[in-house]
Amino acid sequence: MKKIKIGVLVSGRGSNLQAIIDNIGIGSLSAEIAVVISDQADAYSLERAKKHNISAVHVSAKGYKGKRDEYDVVLVKELQKHNVELVVLAGFMRIITPTLLNAFPNRVMNIHPALLPSFPGLHVQKAALEHGVRFSGCTVHFVDGGMDTGPIIIQAVVPILDNDTEDSLSARILKQEHTIYSRAIQLYAGGRLRIEGRRVLITGGKTASDEYLINP
Ligand code: GRF
Repeated sequence: MKKIKIGVLVSGRGSNLQAIIDNIGIGSLSAEIAVVISDQADAYSLERAKKHNISAVHVSAKGYKGKRDEYDVVLVKELQKHNVELVVLAGFMRIITPTLLNAFPNRVMNIHPALLPSFPGLHVQKAALEHGVRFSGCTVHFVDGGMDTGPIIIQAVVPILDNDTEDSLSARILKQEHTIYSRAIQLYAGGRLRIEGRRVLITGGKTASDEYLINP
């Protein structure tokens, strides 16, 4: 299968980036990371990229206060320079604008540590615990103009245990993130995702099963 060129946008530690690098390394993801871009100069993600000889670029947000569009023009230029086909947001802490979305229509993905549409936004593992839901998890979705609102590609469900803390729950969710993000990218790379309205249909896959989850 052809290797799809991805651009990964990050702001921090980059464990999802690392999982993508590792999955490419073991051959379970046919992609090439063309560039990693961070808005934070000291993001550990940039170190991870450099260690693997991946182009690592810091695009400072200084001077772009209130000018998100203009910042995104710089991002788009950088992504296009590296011939990026799919943009992967992995802990990128900025809201992206139509400037970027229009340059990559239906070609921007994000991962979120909750079962959307429940708990969009920040600090969502804490919010899920406080609400008392029995299940949380993570969601890979295409990015649209809203906050964590785009069409859902894959979700993984993580049960919430009585003795969970924000940290323990976050860690179990993160483990699933590391699996499903690469899986979603692989489906995209294989041309297997079809967006119909809000739904993302997976073509050429297994037939639907009627299994379900109950907790406890
Ligand atoms: C993850 O929890 C992801 O779901 C969220 O930001 C976090 C990034 O973590 N969007 P990392 O930088 O990939 O370790």
